[in-house]
Amino acid sequence: MSAHSVPVLDFGSQTAQLIVRRLRELGVYSELLPHDAPEEQVRALNPLGVVLSGGAASVYEEGAPQMPAWLPGSGLPALGICYGMQLMSYALGGVVLRPESREYGPAEIALGERHPLFVGTPDDQPVWMSHGDRIEALPPGFRSLAANPSTPFAAMGDDARRWYGVQFHPEVVHTAHGRAILRNFLFEICRASAEWRPAEFVAEAVERVRERVGAEGRVICALSGGVDSAVAALIIHRAIGDRLSCVFVDNGLLRLGEAEQVVATFREHFHVPLVAVDAREEFLSALEGVADPERKRKIIGEKFIRIFEREARGLGDAKYLAQGTLYPDVIESSAPDRKKGVTIKTHHNVGGLPADMQMQLVEPLRYMFKDEVRAAGLELSLPEDWVWRHPFPGPGLAVRLIGPVSFERLETLRRADAIFMEELRAAGLYRATQQAFAVLLPVQSVGVMGDGRTYADTIALRAVTTEDYMTADWARLPYELLAKVSGRIVNEVPGVNRVVYDLSSKPPATIEWE
Ligand code: XMP
Repeated sequence: MSAHSVPVLDFGSQTAQLIVRRLRELGVYSELLPHDAPEEQVRALNPLGVVLSGGAASVYEEGAPQMPAWLPGSGLPALGICYGMQLMSYALGGVVLRPESREYGPAEIALGERHPLFVGTPDDQPVWMSHGDRIEALPPGFRSLAANPSTPFAAMGDDARRWYGVQFHPEVVHTAHGRAILRNFLFEICRASAEWRPAEFVAEAVERVRERVGAEGRVICALSGGVDSAVAALIIHRAIGDRLSCVFVDNGLLRLGEAEQVVATFREHFHVPLVAVDAREEFLSALEGVADPERKRKIIGEKFIRIFEREARGLGDAKYLAQGTLYPDVIESSAPDRKKGVTIKTHHNVGGLPADMQMQLVEPLRYMFKDEVRAAGLELSLPEDWVWRHPFPGPGLAVRLIGPVSFERLETLRRADAIFMEELRAAGLYRATQQAFAVLLPVQSVGVMGDGRTYADTIALRAVTTEDYMTADWARLPYELLAKVSGRIVNEVPGVNRVVYDLSSKPPATIEWE
């Protein structure tokens, strides 16, 4: 555990977890806690201050989340963001009103004075607003720190109490100096020091696994080839050594060289007990000729579960099953005030493991964001190209091969994909795209090679930039790179005579083609 922290109380805003990320990026440990978390739960994190997040409610609404009764008298500094600021105002005797129109989007604010909260930021600055209600009269003891014509109290503060509020969102990138404002709250107001690093998660997660599993417990972990399951396995291995067994199922739908790398890294380099199951035949015979994407997914999911269960039985009496659940999933499935109607994800798991398995879960990544999992991977000496590997769907190449599955078509796709990845890396652009891959289309077309006519397959190249995979833009890869990839694919991959580049964003397209 970090020596101190600045937790965020969650009032339901979509960007609440972003505040936590920003505070951690600034070197101070933070967690997102429900707004009604008991005082002891907050105090257990040794807080030097708290942040009250935004939220969709209006303070006057029935059932709107309230100011925790213990907080005003706690002596802790606080920063209220948007709803958090309105709540501060409302709870301490100010007036909050609902004006005719909402303020949403970019705005300019002007500072009323030079204040420690705004050190290093200009007098006039662009911010991102997103609020319905606004403060009409400040509570006693507070003064205005910033304003604009439509928001007379864009920031407020009470230095005696060390409570501050901002009506805008400092955690989003559109607030140009938001990071500086959060930094000032941490270091000028809370007097925190920047001593927390993502690498600390490793030691802490190792400790938590030991506590959970005890001196005897055995754990099974399914490796997928992705970064999450690999980091989860390495943390558990550090905690309990050979009492961890990993299962890796080669389903024949992986990228070129991937299966060999998983086995070599885990077994030979890390000495992690690993059962490698060669299930290529089993999957391929079940998938042969299947063209419908949802049927492919269903077959692959069911096969995986059956094989995993069979192997797990062979590993004796393991009581624990490892899962690579990340912090955003934990937040989504436990937040009390997420707006009803928004689809709430349930914890997903790396390999589509059976929900009814009579095993207890070990989730070593449950406090980490994805970038922190990568930092933990580097700390644990996971090879760099594994740490930075693009996400890969569970059904693998089967959903990147449009039309019927066959061994030959998989080989064609695997080779084309490997060339694309090799050239993308050589151009130094692999990490500039968040996902890139080849797709084999069920389209044959006429070509000419040498003196002969060809009638052969088409490969589509897909590369996207995205922050969260919910929306994405097609990557503007250089023409020279595309030309090189295209040339190599038609020359080196038999049966392909045409390469196209996918120019669709998501929405309306999706990242994968199936
Ligand atoms: P789409 O295609 O929906 O993909 O834009 C968004 C992200 O999800 C991944 N994806 C999957 N992952 N099983 C998975 O484990 C699936 O069936 C699946 N389908 C899509 C996709 O690779 C992208 O990162």
